[in-house]
Amino acid sequence: MARIPFIAGNWKMYKTGPEAVETARKLVDLCADVGKVEVMIAPTFLSLALVSDCVRGSRIKTGAQNLYFEKEGAFTGEVSAAMIRATGSEYAIIGHSERRQYFGETDETACKKVRAAIQGGLKPILCIGETEAERDQEKTFLILDKQVSDGLKGLGPDELRDLVLAYEPVWAIGTGKTADTRQVDEVHQYLRSLLSRLFSADFSDRIRILYGGSVKPENAKELMNIKDVDGALVGGASLDPDKFIKIIKYYL
Ligand code: 13P
Repeated sequence: MARIPFIAGNWKMYKTGPEAVETARKLVDLCADVGKVEVMIAPTFLSLALVSDCVRGSRIKTGAQNLYFEKEGAFTGEVSAAMIRATGSEYAIIGHSERRQYFGETDETACKKVRAAIQGGLKPILCIGETEAERDQEKTFLILDKQVSDGLKGLGPDELRDLVLAYEPVWAIGTGKTADTRQVDEVHQYLRSLLSRLFSADFSDRIRILYGGSVKPENAKELMNIKDVDGALVGGASLDPDKFIKIIKYYL
């Protein structure tokens, strides 16, 4: 089964509401003729409803950068899957390395969030990736294995049918250092076989695996050409519609 290419923009903690709307409007215009690629942007929670309204009816989808795993309750400062879904958003990014690094996200909390996202009607994008020290110690596969196994623990292939995995080596995020094609190819092949081992070959074949980490118009082509890379999770370059569209258009 052919996997539809997916280009997602993680806007992180950038752009006020008006700035987010302006960027989204430009993207809607630029993406008018984008056919076979799925495009998603993830603004801050504060801009999610605004941006979702702005892209409604266009080819662009929206997603949240995080969520909380409880349905509702006295959880000051948190946002539920249902609240995200109600904005018209389809996706939730979960377990991003910045959340792991600065906000205490673990494989266990990521797993609860994957479950909550699915139960709330959102498609989870589970982020995984090794640090530079882990790569130097040749622990990359060990770490990825744990992040995937524990991040998806207790969930079955039916529940996970809309799962997206995003491989984002921590040392390549926001650093300008991109993993080279050999490294990306090796990891994506490994992840494909890991999904096959954990679930089934058929399941593994259907799941999209994105690469993230300093993806730019200049390197998108060689990265997206790798067999098991089904798209990109883009940070910095997704903030500028003129750059982001160049990455999206690689697929046209
Ligand atoms: P950069 O593209 O800025 O390296 O960020 C990648 C990322 O973290 C996307 O989630």
